[in-house]
Amino acid sequence: MSEATTILTEHTRSAIDTWLKKYPEDQKQSAVLEALRQAQHQNNGFLTAELMDAVALYLDMSSIAVYEVASFYSMFETSPVGRHSISVCTNISCMLMGSDKIVEHLNNKLGIKLGETTADNKFFMKREEECLAACCGGPMMMIDHQYYENLTPEKVDEILDGLD
Ligand code: FES
Repeated sequence: MSEATTILTEHTRSAIDTWLKKYPEDQKQSAVLEALRQAQHQNNGFLTAELMDAVALYLDMSSIAVYEVASFYSMFETSPVGRHSISVCTNISCMLMGSDKIVEHLNNKLGIKLGETTADNKFFMKREEECLAACCGGPMMMIDHQYYENLTPEKVDEILDGLD
């Protein structure tokens, strides 16, 4: 059994294999985004060097190439974070609709700043997020890959209070 197959769970490998079927046999690296997403999910929302190395091995890539992808895209975390990841879009359309007030409300409600995790490990506020392609619904945020639009402080309270 290779190192990759002991570090990546069966569920993670099976999900990666589904994506590998979409690409030619010698182009395994095409599945790197999904592989990292699955590896991150396996590890409560963040990637370790060990997991990235395992992904590299599984996809016949160099470790450095996998690190480059993981550090380039904002959806990957390489240090421990809270269970629910909150990204508030602060790009132009959302900014004009008051995203700064949403960020401020979250800062006050959760007692953390962007890039921090709450003491109970429940919420993580990602660093500034660029446009998430939902400009008509600004101000908006994404929590754990789900979009919430036309936000108000009251709506933010309702959404957060509804999460386990
Ligand atoms: S500017 Fe916020 S989603 Fe596009």
